[in-house]
Amino acid sequence: MTAGTRRVKSVEDSIKDTDHPEHRLKKHLSALDLTVFGVGVIIGTGIFVLTGEVAKTTAGPAVAISFVIAGVVCGLAALCYAEFASTVPVAGSAYTFSYATLGEFVAWIIGWDLVLELALGAATVSVGWSGYLNQLLGDLGIPLPTSIAGEEATVNIPAILIALLMTGVLILGIKLSSRVTSVIVAIKVAIVLLVIVVGVFYVKAANYTPFVPPSEAGESASGWTAPLIQTLFGFTPSTFGVGGILAGAAIVFFAFIGFDIVATAAEETKNPARDMPRGIIGSLAVCTALYVAVSLVVVGMQRYTELSSEAPLADAFRSVGLPFLSGAISVGALAGLTSVVMILLLGQSRVLFAMSRDRLLPPSLAKVHPRYGTPYAITLITGGVVALLAGFVPLSTLAELVNIGTLFAFVLVSLAVIILRRTRPDLPRSFRVPWVPLLPVVSALACFYLMLNLPAETWLRFAVWMLLGVVLYFSYGRRRSRFTTPGDREDAAAANAARRG
Ligand code: ALA
Repeated sequence: MTAGTRRVKSVEDSIKDTDHPEHRLKKHLSALDLTVFGVGVIIGTGIFVLTGEVAKTTAGPAVAISFVIAGVVCGLAALCYAEFASTVPVAGSAYTFSYATLGEFVAWIIGWDLVLELALGAATVSVGWSGYLNQLLGDLGIPLPTSIAGEEATVNIPAILIALLMTGVLILGIKLSSRVTSVIVAIKVAIVLLVIVVGVFYVKAANYTPFVPPSEAGESASGWTAPLIQTLFGFTPSTFGVGGILAGAAIVFFAFIGFDIVATAAEETKNPARDMPRGIIGSLAVCTALYVAVSLVVVGMQRYTELSSEAPLADAFRSVGLPFLSGAISVGALAGLTSVVMILLLGQSRVLFAMSRDRLLPPSLAKVHPRYGTPYAITLITGGVVALLAGFVPLSTLAELVNIGTLFAFVLVSLAVIILRRTRPDLPRSFRVPWVPLLPVVSALACFYLMLNLPAETWLRFAVWMLLGVVLYFSYGRRRSRFTTPGDREDAAAANAARRG
């Protein structure tokens, strides 16, 4: 009974905590707000940058199939997230869900793992934002020196500024944030639609042949940089072919990250039981349709071998003689990446907020601002760390680490749905995943399979990060969590006993 896995925080406790006056967040988001939030964080670096890179080096024109595969895998996980978010409408997403099912240790592990997705993701996209800004300024004839902007910068000033600016917006209040997001999302979706509607007239059928380029031995792929699955099964590391489509899916998965973050806003939603599933699944469906269309158009406009790795959408329009549209796309990308940074930061601050409310991190971090109603202390710290990471670390190779961290959370959330159905069949679930346990099992396996398609070196970095998390839990969180305070311990024991009875 002393193992961390037995420390389960009941769903009722989680919901009760949200009513504590010092830690109460305002409830004012609707299903539409959530969908806008979702689209705001989902469409970003993935479609604006990775499409070109993956088509060129990994999947060829079949990158569109990679998007379909990643979209289907995310769709399965999204159903599991939707059930959880409608049952446990509490800030903290996968972290809170696992505290209610798999216990404190797994919850901490997930919370720690989510830092890879959220903080590292925000920093990665901030660096991407800086790159787009520099490209736009370059088009206008006023480029910034490469020492202070872009991927190779010594100190990436624009990346630091965007991270800090978004932190300020978040501290001032989530309603303001959601208004800013709506405008940005409108621009971003308009630009993506423009690419599809105009680009389709410039598609050349010849560019689709071969649609799946034949598999070839990768020049630079060593055992460490090849997908783990190839290393494990002793295949010669290769790119393109069917293996390339799958490896591509594991990379363009980055483009879908964000729908799960909608669940972190559950506590700020007016009617989470109804609106959460709509927001999560709605935003994912919109984005999948747009991605498949955009990728098909772009690989049809320009031969995959000639696509740009930095700005493929803009460059495809330049290549067909439409440079003015290329500028408009850069502006749209810039606006689009802004909202991604903001919402990733929002998600990160809410997860850490929930963790400190449970005293796995210092509880003083969970204070809510008396006037703005936002968790200002944790937001400020998160923003500061992300700004430092974005300013000083070249993060392009770490995007894969963001993917592995996110996929791992999806695996655990999928399994947790099955567990909560068994342990708490009584809870009201306004949204239920169909075909339990089959669908969540398939979801977990599909996410794990995508993880196996990531490079071995990514697995190594992931393992090191998670090990650090385990050490921290046993040296801090385990001794100070809510389960170590007498009142809470008795409450929890009673809840556990009631559940067993
Ligand atoms: N899905 C987000 C992006 O592509 C993280 O930038």
